Amino acid sequence: MGATDAIILVGGMGTRLRPLTLSAPKPMLPTAGVPFLTHLVARIREAGVTHIVLGTSYRAEVFQSYFGDGSAFGVEMEYVIEAEPLGTGGGIRNVVDRLRGDTVLAFNGDVLSGVDLRELLATHDDTDADVTLYLTKVEDPRAFGCVPTDAEGRVTAFLEKDPDPVTDQINAGTYVFRRALLDAIPAGRPVSVERETFPGLLAAGARVMGHVDETYWRDLGRPADFVAGSADLVQGLAPSPALPGPIGRALVLPGARVDPTAVLSGGTTVGVGAVVWAGAVVDGSVLFDGATVGPGAVVRRSVLGFGAVVGAGAVLEDAVVGDRSRIGDRVELLGGARVWPDVTVPDGGIRFSSDL
Ligand code: GDD
Ligand code: MG
Repeated sequence: MGATDAIILVGGMGTRLRPLTLSAPKPMLPTAGVPFLTHLVARIREAGVTHIVLGTSYRAEVFQSYFGDGSAFGVEMEYVIEAEPLGTGGGIRNVVDRLRGDTVLAFNGDVLSGVDLRELLATHDDTDADVTLYLTKVEDPRAFGCVPTDAEGRVTAFLEKDPDPVTDQINAGTYVFRRALLDAIPAGRPVSVERETFPGLLAAGARVMGHVDETYWRDLGRPADFVAGSADLVQGLAPSPALPGPIGRALVLPGARVDPTAVLSGGTTVGVGAVVWAGAVVDGSVLFDGATVGPGAVVRRSVLGFGAVVGAGAVLEDAVVGDRSRIGDRVELLGGARVWPDVTVPDGGIRFSSDL
């Protein structure tokens, strides 16, 4: 039967990705050359679902000004704004009156995945489920929803952010709902779909099925995952119909300038108007539009915000540099350093490392 509507939850504050999310919400950060959400929208469209409702809250206007009515992306896009964040379950409940069909796909807006959405929908139909949860397996499940299933694939528990997980199988952040169930979520107050709705449905005996898929999966909520996810898109490890260029070692957007002696690798993206000077090495990193990497600088697994500048001979590893900030010549930022927007770090003035 398939789904008619998709809901994407994009109302989170993206706190773990600050300072990048001070100016744009997490799903709108440039990822392999386009706002992250563009990849997800393209995958939803590819699965034949063309009506998409965004559940927004934080910086809602940024989504609307980019996607508009969705027609440029081959979909019909609607927006529902929460004045106060209603949580994941509240966000879903809040858009129910926009839905048109009996089967609804709901997505966390910050997940990059290789799951075949048509297969997920087929599992839902074939098993006559009330809800079907896309599940995957990770090494450390503690940061996610832990979701054990029985031999028939039926979900037996939903344990959000459990410090002592009973299985490495987790909620991958995409659900298929029988629409009627959504009306039962309380309206007008914050609800967590993970902590309240799913445990409640299980206790009430609803038929909650798991669809386990172990192809590509990554939540882009933390800086290390954000850069790795972008690099995986550029290198074709994560599938996306929206990659704005060929798969390769690097994606260089129009109007960027890269000196022929600079070395780009590891799925680096060089944004529009960005500049990489002679002898620089940029590996597995994301350079937002207008960023500059100075001569001989080394930038690995890092994000440079809009218009950020890295001076000559500087070394950045696992760093996040806010919009318009300037990292001085020969400065070293290692081990997860974060520089806020509009900051100037003086030449040679700092060696920051978490393992000093
Ligand atoms: N509309 C709306 N309103 N959206 C919200 C709100 C809200 O109040 N709060 C969060 N969201 C959106 C976020 O923007 C994000 O796209 C999604 O809901 C999930 O929120 P995160 O803050 O990223 O949650 P998480 O990563 O800690 O955990 C969730 O995702 C994991 C998989 O990536 C949970 O669903 C876990 O169970 C799951 O394993
Ligand atoms: Mg997340």
